[in-house]
Amino acid sequence: MNQERAARGILLLGFMGSGKSTVGQMLAARLDRPFADLDERIERKEGRPISEIFRQQGEPAFRALETRVLTELLSEMQRTPGVVVALGGGTFAQVGNRQLLETFGGLTVFLDCPLEELEHRCRDYTHRPLAQDPTAFRALYHERQGSYRLANLTVDAGRSPEQIAESILGMLK
Ligand code: S3P
Repeated sequence: MNQERAARGILLLGFMGSGKSTVGQMLAARLDRPFADLDERIERKEGRPISEIFRQQGEPAFRALETRVLTELLSEMQRTPGVVVALGGGTFAQVGNRQLLETFGGLTVFLDCPLEELEHRCRDYTHRPLAQDPTAFRALYHERQGSYRLANLTVDAGRSPEQIAESILGMLK
């Protein structure tokens, strides 16, 4: 079942700083598959950084854009299956996006990392609009845990990217 899903695509999800992009690139290289980063696609399509989108248009506009770019990516993946994708930290927390992903049928993997470690990793990330206020960061972390747990697989992400990638590879066997 996991292998069938993984053949369609592997979608990494989890909070800011959980390692989605780094682990995704490693995993793609190990599996000899293409890699796609949803945040990067949004920035490329818009020609401006995510922080700018948040500042100029606000979060609801960003979420609408995120869903549009996710829809386009999943439709490309129907033609080119197997891509390893790093989703954004909030992508899987939106019920509509979860429905799109379930219909697509790829393997969703939650990179589960303790809050203290995420706070440590994100402390210098001035470019992340939702990592600026420590109290809001913590609240968002707790609020999203329930949705993240709906992923097909959960992996302990409080480790090095190499170790996380290795665990996911092990789960695919
Ligand atoms: C967000 C996380 C970011 C980016 C945007 C919103 C979130 O992605 O999509 O700033 O809602 O958690 P990363 O998790 O890659 O930082």
